[in-house]
Order: sequence, then structure tokens, then C-alpha cells
Amino acid sequence: MKIGALAEVFPGENRVAMTPDSALAIQKLGHECVIQSGAGVKAGFSDALYAKAGVGVLPDAAAVAAAADVLVKVRGPETSEAGALRQGQTLISFFWPAQNPDLLEIVKARGATAVAMDMVPRISRAQKMDALSSMANIAGYRAVIEAGSNFGRFFTGQVTAAGKVPPAKVLIVGAGVAGLAATGTSVSLGAIVYAFDVRPEVAEQIESMGASFVFLDFAEKAQDGAATGGYAAPSSPEFREAQLKKFRELAPDMDIVITTALIPGRPAPKLWTADMVAMMKPGSVIVDLAAERGGNCDLTVPDQKIVSDNGVTIVGYTDFPSRMAAQASTLYSTNIRHMLTDLTPKKDGVIVHNMEDDVIRGATVAKDGAITWPPPPPKIAAIAAQKPKEKVKELTSDEKRANEVAAFKAQTRTQVTLLVVAGALMLSAGWFAPPAFMSHFIVFVLSVYVGFSVIWNVSHSLHTPLMAVTNAISSIIILGALMQIGSGAGSNPWNGSVIVVVLAAASVFMAGINIFGGFMVTRRMLAMFQKS
Ligand code: NAI
Repeated sequence: MKIGALAEVFPGENRVAMTPDSALAIQKLGHECVIQSGAGVKAGFSDALYAKAGVGVLPDAAAVAAAADVLVKVRGPETSEAGALRQGQTLISFFWPAQNPDLLEIVKARGATAVAMDMVPRISRAQKMDALSSMANIAGYRAVIEAGSNFGRFFTGQVTAAGKVPPAKVLIVGAGVAGLAATGTSVSLGAIVYAFDVRPEVAEQIESMGASFVFLDFAEKAQDGAATGGYAAPSSPEFREAQLKKFRELAPDMDIVITTALIPGRPAPKLWTADMVAMMKPGSVIVDLAAERGGNCDLTVPDQKIVSDNGVTIVGYTDFPSRMAAQASTLYSTNIRHMLTDLTPKKDGVIVHNMEDDVIRGATVAKDGAITWPPPPPKIAAIAAQKPKEKVKELTSDEKRANEVAAFKAQTRTQVTLLVVAGALMLSAGWFAPPAFMSHFIVFVLSVYVGFSVIWNVSHSLHTPLMAVTNAISSIIILGALMQIGSGAGSNPWNGSVIVVVLAAASVFMAGINIFGGFMVTRRMLAMFQKS
């Protein structure tokens, strides 16, 4: 079949639904590819690159629409684009069927099929086609970069000759895909990051990224992600009040706030109110990713950057993925390519629109003259749905004591077994080895054991300060080595041997590196904590 990519007509849209790389992959499925001339230019893909990848470059949209069996694009179709679809033709793009019932009617009337990339269910198998997540990931990343370019300070704390700079404090509201990307990016830039979400199960994820989860002192019935397709459900008014109270406490302290809170199909919840903006320091930045749906912040103006009376910059752009068009097009075209892979099960260039398949069924909003939206819920549970942790049974004090005794007995048994095995090994070694070897061997085994036990019990964060201990060990090595270098002739045949002298000199050299390196690291660490 022929897959044709149209140029985007929405003003300011820079993305493209097919890249030269994705076209190569689509051709491997047995399809032919065509593209409208100039469609990829704003994303950095010239017509020549497409031609090199074996894609037919056609002069205009009409030529592509006439040639292709399947049309791919990024933004939902304009009325004219939907009206130009012909019977049996398939369109794959964002569609937002709930907001565009008229478009659905047009596609139905044309007898065409529409696959909405925004309707791909959030199940594990469909992750590779999840264009919403790909775009939200980019939006989260870009939100931090945008915040940084409007913020007059570093993200990371620095100690410089000119003075000390405190790290920026960033609050992420809503830890979905965009929120997690924003968290990761802010942490990697060195900021102190806090994140909040109504779904407490994301707390572990947030903390594993090096940020702190903002907990509320409020008990609300755990949300069932499966029932809502992996998305959050609206929270109660009491919860909202507790949440706003917490935000008011945090507002004066935050330098950057990135809001991404959203419940699909609803206007964005107002979470960052005008009084919170007023509490923030001048120069602070708010990036409202939910601007398109009204914004999480009271003062957000969609598609604009404004500065509040107290000097807080509020960014309400709704086109973050398009601002990173090369990256966004690469990810989106890969999502489309995966959708086409599922639609071409035999990789023979024949599209099989299997409505029994959860993913294809979920994304198909109109097919062969019928509206197929909304789809039935997917048979497989959504990714975000996690089994609630089983409640651990409270133990009585007798049970606790019995458990402790059993654990102690088991530990003692292991230790005794290890001792018996080690003793047996020593005895059998002593049976054959000369006595001089045994005395050194026992000291060696004990040193390894003591060294291992000491270091093993030190927490990882303290390994650098442990350099001081290794310095001490290194000085013992140097002492031993110096004695060997100076050892003259004697009863021991190795005394004075060139091999011993060379080995001892090498030990002095290596232990020296360890000692001086250790001092340098310690000096740097101390400098970090010194007041300027
Ligand atoms: P998502 O559904 O993965 O995440 C939204 C998160 O908000 C969820 O974790 C949800 O639990 C949380 N949430 C809902 N209500 C909340 C509340 N009251 N308080 C705190 N958290 C709450 O959505 P995704 O994909 O991360 O997108 C986030 C936002 O970014 C959406 O508004 C989306 O439209 C927007 N977006 C904006 C772009 C732009 O260019 N401005 C581009 C892409 C996405």
C-alpha cells in the first residue's frame, strides 16, 4: 500500500509525521512511501533526504491524498482535509474525537477510516505507539529549558570565587509523563526538586529520581487507575483544600513551578491560584503545561508569556513539542511506524485493520462509514493501575518476640556452619603447607575478613570520606614495602632479591598515588562546605 505524509497546515506547527528513517522502516513492511514537498523542512528534513530514503516527493497535498491509501499527519485534520478523504482511505493522526464530533461525522460520511493517535490505550503493549506520552515527555523536558531561559539564576548550587549560589527550588505539580520528564530534567540540572500528584503511587518513582514527593496529611480513598484507563480521577473538595493549603506553604520558597495536572476530558484543575503567584519571589517562573485546557494557574494566558505585577514570569505556550520539532517528529513518526507495523501483521504491504486488537480498536474512531468512538474499555488493565499493596498484618508482642528468636537462631546456625567449614579448610591446608606459610596465610585471611567487614558496613555515601581510612591502610603498605626494599641478605632466600625490591617499589608508588589522590579529594570536599 502507499503511505503518504501531508504537510501540517496549522500555523506555527513544525512537526512532520514521517521522517526519512521512519520511511525506511515503513518500506520494510512492504509499503511504498510518498510525502508532500517541503513537509519536513521545518523539522530539519529536506526533500532530498526523503528522496534518498526512497520516498516519492509529490508537489502538493492533493497529489499525496490522491496517491496514498493511508495518510499520516500530526495535528488533527482540518475540515477540508477530512472532507477530501475518500472511501476506504485511512487517516492516522491526532484527532481528539470528544472535542471534534463534526470531524467524526465528516469522516463517517466520506466512508473513510480514522485512527486517532491520542486514543491509543495506555497499556504496556501499546507504549511504542503512545504518541501522547512521546509528546508529553518532550513538553516536560522543554518546560524546564523554557523555565531556565526565563530564570535569572543557575539551577544548580555553586561555590565560586565570586560567592556562593544556592540551588534553585523547583516544584512539579502533576507527576504524569510530562511531570516525570520535567522532574528528571530539573534534577539533572542540579535543582532541588519537589513533586506532587494526586496518585500517591508515583511517590516512589519521584524519589528514585532524586526529587522529594510532597505528601499531604490527608486520607482519601485510593484511586483505581484501571477504572479510569490509567489516568487520575477528580479529587474531593476537601482534598483540594488540603492540597492548596500545602501549595500556599511552599509558594514563597519556590523559584520555578511547572504545572502539568490534568484529568482527561475535563478542564485543567486550578491549582496555582493568584494569591500563590503573589507570594512568589520576583524573578520566579511558572510554566503551565496545561495551558491548552485553561491552565493550572489562575493567571495563565494560553500561547503567551506574561509577567505578573510582582515580577513572576508565567509561560503558557501550548506548542512545546513543536518547539523541538526534530526530536518530536522523530518520536511521533516512530509511534506512527509502530502503528503501521501492527496494522501490517504479515509485513507484506497489506493493511489488516483488526478490530479485535485492543490497541487498534481503541484508536480507531471511525471505520468504513461508521463512528466507532468511544471504544469499549481495553481488556488488559492500564499500566498506571497498580495492585494496592497488601496490608501487613499487625503482630502481637509475643509473635514479634518469637520471630526475633527464630531469626537469631537461623543467623547463629549460618555463622556456626561458616566457622566449621572455614576451620576444616584451614586444617586441611595446614596438613600440607609449611608452617611459615600458614602463619602468613592466617594473618592474610583475617585481614581480608576485617577489611571486608569494615568497608561493607559503611554506607555508600560515606565511601569518599573513607579515603582517610584507605590513606591509613596505604601508609601501612608503604611501611611494609620500605622494610622489604631495605632487607639485606639473611636466612630468607628472597631477602635482597631484585623481584622483591621491584615489587616493593611498585607498592610504594601505587600506595603513594592513593594517599595523594585521597588528600586531593578530601581537600575538594572540604572546600565545598567552606563558607565563602
Ligand atoms: P498525564 O495524564 O500523564 O499526567 C497528568 C498528571 O496530573 C497525572 O499524573 C495526574 O494524576 C495528575 N493530576 C491530576 N489532577 C491533579 C491534581 N489535582 N493535583 C495534582 N496532580 C494531578 O498527562 P501528561 O501526558 O503528563 O500531560 C500533562 C499535561 O501536559 C496535559 O495538560 C497535557 O495536555 C499537557 N501537554 C502540554 C503540551 C504543551 O505544549 N503545552 C504538550 C504535551 C502535553
